[in-house]
Amino acid sequence: MEDCFLRTVAEIKENQKLTKEQLQSILTDRDEAHEAALFAAATEVAEQTFQKQIYLRGLIEFTNYCKNDCYYCGIRCSNKKAERYRLSKEEILSCCDKGAALGFRTFVLQGGEDPYYTDEMICGIISEIKKKHPDCAVTLSIGEKPKESYRRFFESGAERYLLRQETADEAHYKTMHPPAMSAENRKQCLWDLKEIGYQVGCGFLVGTPGQTATEIYEDLHFMQKLQPQMIGIGPFLAHKDTPWHDRPDGSVQDTLRLLAVLRLLFPKALLPATTALGTADPKGREKGILAGANVLMPNLSPAAVREKYLLYDGKICTGEEAAECVRCLKERIERIGYTIAESRGDHPDFCR
Ligand code: 5AD
Ligand code: FES
Repeated sequence: MEDCFLRTVAEIKENQKLTKEQLQSILTDRDEAHEAALFAAATEVAEQTFQKQIYLRGLIEFTNYCKNDCYYCGIRCSNKKAERYRLSKEEILSCCDKGAALGFRTFVLQGGEDPYYTDEMICGIISEIKKKHPDCAVTLSIGEKPKESYRRFFESGAERYLLRQETADEAHYKTMHPPAMSAENRKQCLWDLKEIGYQVGCGFLVGTPGQTATEIYEDLHFMQKLQPQMIGIGPFLAHKDTPWHDRPDGSVQDTLRLLAVLRLLFPKALLPATTALGTADPKGREKGILAGANVLMPNLSPAAVREKYLLYDGKICTGEEAAECVRCLKERIERIGYTIAESRGDHPDFCR
């Protein structure tokens, strides 16, 4: 007798598309053998393009000031308990030097939306990093900006940009953010970035209150139109000093299944096993890789500011030095039969 679930997985793998009913069945099926088959299909697809290589991105969280007030996020401007910090250009450069010595070939500059850093300052930081580390990629993750600013950053040498849409569904987006923010604007930013020529990363939160297969299906549909080079997803995790402090955390298992679905839909995409996933489950990052992820983003921020960049409670690795995390991750990856890649890890369609 033919197994309907297995046929669904084979179809998604073959056609890189799925129906809402198929998504629903993947998220609700409780058979362990089915889940194993889904993950096996996803890792097989990942291996076809990336072998068993995992790319490392050095994350530099350079400011936790943010003018936005997202209901779920620990560095929202209304959180008066957050101890704010900003890194200087020199401090950022020294993180990159340290990272380059550890073998990193990508630096991700991530921060809240902090108007203190003017476009000129960001451009100056980018060009200085590129001058000192011409073999490294610079990825920005600094939120919604005018297209002109995105263009200037690109011209200064930034080649990738991460901006999760968080949810593609406007009504759901409104439940997560204050009225000043909109899914429409966020999605427009992603189109702008794509048009300028960035390798673009988007993504969504898994398990936000009120999210159902309908909202997730909209995210998948949006991403199939956008065709991003990178997709970051992670479970929503409550932060004690936010309006969502008492909402239940997103599910690890749903996140893993969705990672596998993303791998089948986007065979060549760079998919991180995120820190949120590693926080929700001590083996979350390994499980993410075994569900089709191929990127890890260890923290390169100075130890003194680590525990201040808290988007959610319980964040892992806030006490570790970058070198320790690299060693730890290398061991973890090798234990599951994977290796750390030494190249920059551009999307396969972006030849240099
Ligand atoms: N739980 C999980 N992820 C979160 N992010 C922000 N707040 C939380 C939270 N409470 C994610 C958002 C953002 C990324 C940098 O971190 O998706 O885009
Ligand atoms: Fe940071 Fe393991 S990855 S200590």
